[in-house]
Amino acid sequence: MKTAIDKTMPSSAEGMGRVDGRLKVTGAAKYSAEYTPAGLTYGVLVGSTITKGSITAIDTKAASKAPGVLAIITHLNAPKVPGDQPGKDNKAGDKGALKVFYDDKICYNGQPVAIVIADTFERAQFAASLVKAEYKAEKHMTNLPDNKDKGFAPRGEGGYKRGTEDAWKTAPFKLEQEYIVPTVTHNPMELHAIIARWDADDKLSVWDKTQGVKDTQQDLARLFKLPVQNVQVHSQFVGGAFGSALRTWPHEVAAILAAKVAKRPVKVVLSRADMFTSVGYRPFTWQKMGIGATADGKLTGITHEAAGQTSTYEDFTEGPTGVSQNLYACPNVNTKYNIVPLDIATPTWMRGPGEATGSFALESALDELSYQLKIDPVELRVRNYAEKDPDSGKPFSSKFLKEAYELGANHIGWKNRKAEPGLVKENGWYVGYGMGSGMFGAYRDRATIKAVMKADGTLLLQSAVSDIGPGTGTAMVLIAAEQMKLPAEKIRFELGDSSLPNAPTQGGSATTASVGSAVYKACADLKEKFQKLVGNGGTDNPDYPKILKEHNLASLDVTTETDGGNGMQTYAMNSWSVHFVKVLVNAATGVVKIDKVACVADCGRIISPKTARSQVIGGAIGGLGMALMEESVIDHRYGSYINNNFADYHVPVNADIPQIDALFVNKPDPVINPMGAKGMAEIALIGMAAAVANAVYNASGKRVRELPITPDKVM
Ligand code: MOS
Repeated sequence: MKTAIDKTMPSSAEGMGRVDGRLKVTGAAKYSAEYTPAGLTYGVLVGSTITKGSITAIDTKAASKAPGVLAIITHLNAPKVPGDQPGKDNKAGDKGALKVFYDDKICYNGQPVAIVIADTFERAQFAASLVKAEYKAEKHMTNLPDNKDKGFAPRGEGGYKRGTEDAWKTAPFKLEQEYIVPTVTHNPMELHAIIARWDADDKLSVWDKTQGVKDTQQDLARLFKLPVQNVQVHSQFVGGAFGSALRTWPHEVAAILAAKVAKRPVKVVLSRADMFTSVGYRPFTWQKMGIGATADGKLTGITHEAAGQTSTYEDFTEGPTGVSQNLYACPNVNTKYNIVPLDIATPTWMRGPGEATGSFALESALDELSYQLKIDPVELRVRNYAEKDPDSGKPFSSKFLKEAYELGANHIGWKNRKAEPGLVKENGWYVGYGMGSGMFGAYRDRATIKAVMKADGTLLLQSAVSDIGPGTGTAMVLIAAEQMKLPAEKIRFELGDSSLPNAPTQGGSATTASVGSAVYKACADLKEKFQKLVGNGGTDNPDYPKILKEHNLASLDVTTETDGGNGMQTYAMNSWSVHFVKVLVNAATGVVKIDKVACVADCGRIISPKTARSQVIGGAIGGLGMALMEESVIDHRYGSYINNNFADYHVPVNADIPQIDALFVNKPDPVINPMGAKGMAEIALIGMAAAVANAVYNASGKRVRELPITPDKVM
């Protein structure tokens, strides 16, 4: 598994492109579905057409006689997954991941009830259409707003209280409002896909879309009761993942079972429609904010309630109320978070999980309050600026959010914003400005790097980490180039394979901080090893090939592990962001056009400016999609999604997106790691939806509290 260096990339840090950019744009990069192991066969899943109940009969006769069909698996003939504990089932009270083909129970519409394996994809798909299941349907429940009071506080997520409960109620300026974030589905360009191959009865190889090859390896070893080293996971290129590939899903287990039964490698690629039921989503969440302030804009109380959906068989939790606990210096805060089991598949994390949802409510409510108070929204935030962590009282490792406010306000032309909504109309369009802020924990985890200096003066770095899109290989090469004083072209970073040294799953915006720390330390260790060889004659800029030659060495290597650091003991560590948008709202139709966007991130030192900019733009577009168009709609009569395709599920396209300017405070965090780099993935999205809603109000006077902000809601 090699990530080749693009020889044409400029080597100055400022302009350096992705080390794998050429491979990606020429199609040479191979994604999980693109491997062709000998004897490859194709698996197609058959989904339940009811939403809740049980399978009473399943007829596979016609399908098994169809051309090219090798095997069909249902709950009636599926081999046991040894890690699915006997005696455990999908019933409430015994919760966990859906056990595929385990029993006759149906927990959601589209749940796999069979997999058909054939010698070509088309034949498998045709045969799958011939599988006929009969069901006993029970009354289902898929509607969150109607059932929001039927939830419970998930374990470890009880209520939060600081100071006095419901203090906002006695404030001279206050409001109470409800906000809705609908289900938003993971739709990365690359569909989820897996190829599973059994190399022996106890040896498994998979080419799998995953954000963490090591976690997937562990998980599959546990499920199939295999020694960990007997499971190989390859995921060299990932065509976008925003949380959907953080865990193992039923289609992966189904493919592995299929390969076992067919005794051939099996490929399963989800269809776009399957993506809506198979790999999680941002859960539909109802929120209620109570917020109060004094006349001079000092927050006196925040009450934040949230109810988010989960499945009946598994408790999914995220932290939508966390932002209300931590973003502002408010003495009295109480929050309550419930999850509501519905007859749907389990949700999962999606970029800025919890915070993206919570910040829509908090940052909208704060904006609403600013109009009551007649205080500029930026000024209102500055008046409630948290100089230390409001919850723990710990100092921040770094926080330059005020600088970010200033940078963004200047960039968008905030001074042109009118304090009264609906005042500026140009050519039939109302013009308005809005802003919203975001925060996300700055994490760092254990990671190992093997660094090998070769006789030709090239440096090889190895790590199991995935690159789901941010340009991890590029950032790691830049860290090593600076440390080793080598041109980037001489450095190669291998990733995405479970046989490589340990790395955390790419998630939680922590990769640069975690794996980057290991790269940094491995380079220092390797340099030291060279300096020891040279003795007193060592310099800070060693001629590595010359030293190797003089000592008759073909190469010199180190394997270095770094831990998660201990900053969290003393400091509260977060990345911060603010989004400013200028919107146009059509006075006749309610159509919202984004005119200008400025996103400012305080995420420590920027390691790789070009990919950092790209990552912020990507996150901003995700936020604009959430604000204006993304919504997975269930027809509750049937419990199934009705817009599970790209014609009906709208994501932003080029025509929807103006120039987005990514700005960075670019001040190193002195605590998190030697590079001073904090995470930026999640904060690029968190706060954006509120910024748009706030701009729409400033333009038109219409407050939309239910995403997405479609024309019907603006009119
Ligand atoms: Mo991210 S939601 O940790 O992929």
